[in-house]
Amino acid sequence: MNSILIKNASQVLTLAGPARARTGPEMSNLGILHDASILISEGRIAQVGFLEELALPDAHTLETIDAQGCSVMPAFIDAHTHPVFAGDRMDEFEMRIRGRTYREISEAGGGILSSVRRTRQATDDELLHQARKFSRWFLCGGTTTIEAKSGYGLSVKEEIRALRLIHRLNHEGPLEWVPTLLAAHVLPEEFRDRRNDYVRTIIEKLLPGVAREGLAEYADVFCEEGAFNLAETRMLLLAARSVGLKIRIHTNQFSNSGGAELAAELSARTADHLDHLDEAGIVTLRDARVVPVLLPASIYHLGRTEFPPARKMIDGGLAVVLATDFNPGTAPTTSMPMVLSLACTQMRMTPAEAVSASTINAAYALDRGDRLGSIEAGKQADLIILSCPDYRQMIYHFGIPFVRTVLKRGRPYAAIP
Ligand code: NIG
Ligand code: FE
Repeated sequence: MNSILIKNASQVLTLAGPARARTGPEMSNLGILHDASILISEGRIAQVGFLEELALPDAHTLETIDAQGCSVMPAFIDAHTHPVFAGDRMDEFEMRIRGRTYREISEAGGGILSSVRRTRQATDDELLHQARKFSRWFLCGGTTTIEAKSGYGLSVKEEIRALRLIHRLNHEGPLEWVPTLLAAHVLPEEFRDRRNDYVRTIIEKLLPGVAREGLAEYADVFCEEGAFNLAETRMLLLAARSVGLKIRIHTNQFSNSGGAELAAELSARTADHLDHLDEAGIVTLRDARVVPVLLPASIYHLGRTEFPPARKMIDGGLAVVLATDFNPGTAPTTSMPMVLSLACTQMRMTPAEAVSASTINAAYALDRGDRLGSIEAGKQADLIILSCPDYRQMIYHFGIPFVRTVLKRGRPYAAIP
């Protein structure tokens, strides 16, 4: 593979720093180099600095990308998505606009279960076709790695099918997929009066099979009224941990359910949503080193106004992560620039903090911090060129597509959906 030189970047957001997630004031330090260049070799960052300082290989083995005064930053890492499902839920979107709530629609058999019905009926090819479309959307928004959950199959066979498709999509590339089992998303219809049987099925049949085949890296549970309670969540996550999966929890989305404390008790890697979290909860998460993954797009799309206390979390020393929560019900967007805009306007994060939360911190949250999340020698060359000289324009001028070129493992792709 030839080397690539990216030159004439007005800003290179290196995110260089300690080899761990960033907290507190560290999140404001993006390690910006002005008028800098990046040399990429064998898909990895070889050197970063001023052009005259770089030791360049022979011109005939060097491909040059002129950034023309644009800014360059690490590609986004979306640490929470639900991208394998059939159809959409635009009809429910309209119902909510007319006044029905997400909860009412779910209780009437819509919501997650309506996506489950359609997903079960879809062929592998149909699911792959739609997921590949989403894959292009992620890339054109500057995202090159996603955590991808199952959770619209809700049976042993269907959840395993979703995870196998995620593996296949990861293999196809260029988007990198990190698989998470979310069999405990909601109770499937056929288990309506047999809650315990479904929990037992996951624990006794699904988890051992998933672990045996190496199909998932993480297991997740939706811990919320209407989904799984604290006792069920504890049993499920303990079982997942015992077969070697890392664990995470969807919690405190609609109420302070106690899931954050459970995440701390079980040393979950992440607690996701946290729209309702008090100060004691922040301290509990910090002491247990649980990473908060905040999902403001789901709050925006549901027309809600309770955003998580991101400011207090950062000031309290938590390694905050931002993600889309891409899913057909609450967050039908793959756009990390949109998420960064919401984080700044609705949660009072600064643009620099939002970038740290969606690159280096997200990389560490997915245990990929040694390879992804910053532009430092030795790391994989996953980066984006923005068509603006100051990265803050991407957030300030919300809704404008600034991602011009995406590089995954050092290979450039034009950002076209
Ligand atoms: O993260 N909270 C649970 N799951 C998704 C919603 C999924 C759906 O509505 O299809 C979420 O918001
Ligand atoms: Fe989610």
